[in-house]
Amino acid sequence: MLTERTESWGSAAYLANSGSEANEAAVGMATQIQEARGRSHVPIVVLSHGYHGSTSLLRHLSMGGQFAPKALGLGVEVRYVDCARWMHMVDDYATYARAFTQSLADAISGCSYGAEPAGIVIIEPWLNVAGGYTLPQETLRIAEESCREQGAILIVDEVFTGFGRGGALSFALASGINPDLITLSKGLTNGTVPLSVTLVSTPIANELSRLPRVFAGHTMSGNALAAEAAIASLGEFDDHGVWSRVSRVAEVVKDASQVFTEQGVGHHTFGTCVSIHLHTDGDALTLSRFCSDRGVVARRQSNSLMLIPALTSAECDLLAAIDVIAAGTSEIELGRATIAEEKN
Ligand SMILES: Cc1ncc(COP(=O)(O)O)c(C=O)c1O
Repeated sequence: MLTERTESWGSAAYLANSGSEANEAAVGMATQIQEARGRSHVPIVVLSHGYHGSTSLLRHLSMGGQFAPKALGLGVEVRYVDCARWMHMVDDYATYARAFTQSLADAISGCSYGAEPAGIVIIEPWLNVAGGYTLPQETLRIAEESCREQGAILIVDEVFTGFGRGGALSFALASGINPDLITLSKGLTNGTVPLSVTLVSTPIANELSRLPRVFAGHTMSGNALAAEAAIASLGEFDDHGVWSRVSRVAEVVKDASQVFTEQGVGHHTFGTCVSIHLHTDGDALTLSRFCSDRGVVARRQSNSLMLIPALTSAECDLLAAIDVIAAGTSEIELGRATIAEEKN
């Protein structure tokens, strides 16, 4: 059911329970393939502010490895492509976007490391856990091109951006990118029951089928309840026009977020989400309390506040939510907001 929706791109799907497990499975499959191709060393390229999950391996591949259990001695070479400058850039995006995508290509080819090419590249299309930052527009295309040139396997982690959040089943496929593996979760069961999936492109599925064994699977993988929930969720998407409503939500969020440009408040929109970037973590806390006092729940992450609306939100609710956030940002900019600790 899932691979059919990717047209001719994919032909296998491995079910698991969490986004972390789907990414572990993807990295495991990619490693097995690289070993079968004859590589004994499989460096992994990730973005410094990407997040892929909470297992020991994925913590090394997430957020620059800051939460990784280093004493476990991973034994894998991880190359972090620095996103910090991009995230804090206020002008001259074009120059930095070029520098960023060049450093990504260099990490994949290994040339800037005086080393061999990467074996695996894993990227999330929007830096979700880092606070909600879009990447330079060409990032996925350059990653795909460089992976093809260097024989690396490209995993696009769509645990957050998939299932409508980024506007389509897969943001990457909808953008004309052909990853080798795509991971999905959250919207797969509409957040009701844990379920995730590693989707496998047809060429990679063919390579996997020649291996003696693919090591992926858990006790509860694809259990009956989760599978029923996914079928019901897909039914909702297809039969109740959710895909077109998602596009409308994305348009409304993008248009309404112009208010932040007018206010000079840093923000990024991605599909149905908008993230506001404030000067300090304290400002974001103030804003999140300002919003929740007025019935708007937005997720705070360091100095950012992210609105992640329901995919079927009514236009008036979206506009009202963005109005509340904008009222809050203007209060904060004027230094008029009282922080909750002071208020209480
Ligand atoms: C992009 C991305 N990848 C992976 C994960 C990990 O998923 P889980 O928490 O289900 O293990 C998350 C969770 O937020 C995520 O946003």
